[in-house]
Amino acid sequence: MSIQMVDLRGQYLRIKDEVDAGIARVLESTQFIRGSELTAFEAELSNALDGVGTLGVANGTDALQIAFMALGIGPGDEVIAPSFTFVATAEAVGLLGATPVFADIDPTTFNLDPTAVESLITNRTKAIVPVHLFGQCADLDPLLTMACSNNVALIEDTAQAVGASYKGRAAGTMGGFGTLSFFPSKNLGCYGDGGAVLSPIPDWLEQARLISNHGSSKKYHNEVIGVNSRLDAMQAAILRAKLPHLESFTRARQDAADRYDALLADISTIATPVRAEYGTHVFHQYTIRVLGNDPKQRDALMSHLKAEGIPSYVYYPIPLHLLPIYRENADSCRVGDMTHTLVAANEVLSLPMHTELTVDQQEQVTDAIRDFFRS
Ligand SMILES: Cc1ncc(COP(=O)(O)O)c(C=O)c1O
Repeated sequence: MSIQMVDLRGQYLRIKDEVDAGIARVLESTQFIRGSELTAFEAELSNALDGVGTLGVANGTDALQIAFMALGIGPGDEVIAPSFTFVATAEAVGLLGATPVFADIDPTTFNLDPTAVESLITNRTKAIVPVHLFGQCADLDPLLTMACSNNVALIEDTAQAVGASYKGRAAGTMGGFGTLSFFPSKNLGCYGDGGAVLSPIPDWLEQARLISNHGSSKKYHNEVIGVNSRLDAMQAAILRAKLPHLESFTRARQDAADRYDALLADISTIATPVRAEYGTHVFHQYTIRVLGNDPKQRDALMSHLKAEGIPSYVYYPIPLHLLPIYRENADSCRVGDMTHTLVAANEVLSLPMHTELTVDQQEQVTDAIRDFFRS
């Protein structure tokens, strides 16, 4: 069996009966939009995440946009986010006419550095968006304190970290809003697009629900400008089949990460992921650093692995503030010092990581890495 970055088929075959039964249920009911599958999934997801309020939406990007809209973010407002993330974190900020402000990361966790955020807060700041990158929470307590004392909202982009925890609390449940992505390769992935908005504040969640359904709670009585963004019943049924397995899927990822750590411990030219003491890491990605701040060396390792039939991937080669959408229009963002972000973009390499990874496959990956540094 060839080594893959993500093995969706292998996982599906393990839980096929449950998934197929869910899909059949939806086909029999012909209730494809909203309805009982979605309601049941929202309740089960809430139960799995410390009882937080949940709203299924069409994808994780929409989840962020809906959270921003529910907070009334618009022209003249600023939203602070990391630059070392997927573009979706900041995409909707510009769409709503507001300005993203990019802050540097903590080099140990790749996550938003609270000190860097503090220096960027102004009276235009409306929200701070930490991203729990690669499956590990940002250091939330200082960010929550900062958000509270400056009267700004905190939105946890939890697309990559469902099931992770911070000081015993579930990722995505501590800010005014949390957002999830159920993109197929995510730790809890559906078989298409899907996402969720989370909030512990009932009024905020209801506002998000209104916005996600054309801005109306009563058909043809639209109250606010909204969007059409719903988690469809088929995806909800698939997620209902997968959610009971999330804990064991997470354990499989953590076991694989521990194994990689041990197998790579003797290679001094790379750094394995650091687990912060404050929480658990669910390893959406297992991301090493090829030390030396030299992307050519990292890319050479990637090519060597490819020649050996081993996939790897750079998440993310270009920090957001250097993307054409932001760089070529000086007014479209504001940027803090980016020292650690720039080094991370030059050094990171994500290795195959999924629930079906075997010991033998991991040894092949790490042997190939060792060969590269020996030659
Ligand atoms: C950090 C982060 N935020 C947001 C998103 C957007 O999620 P989706 O692809 O479901 O729109 C992703 C997905 O790739 C992500 O990794």
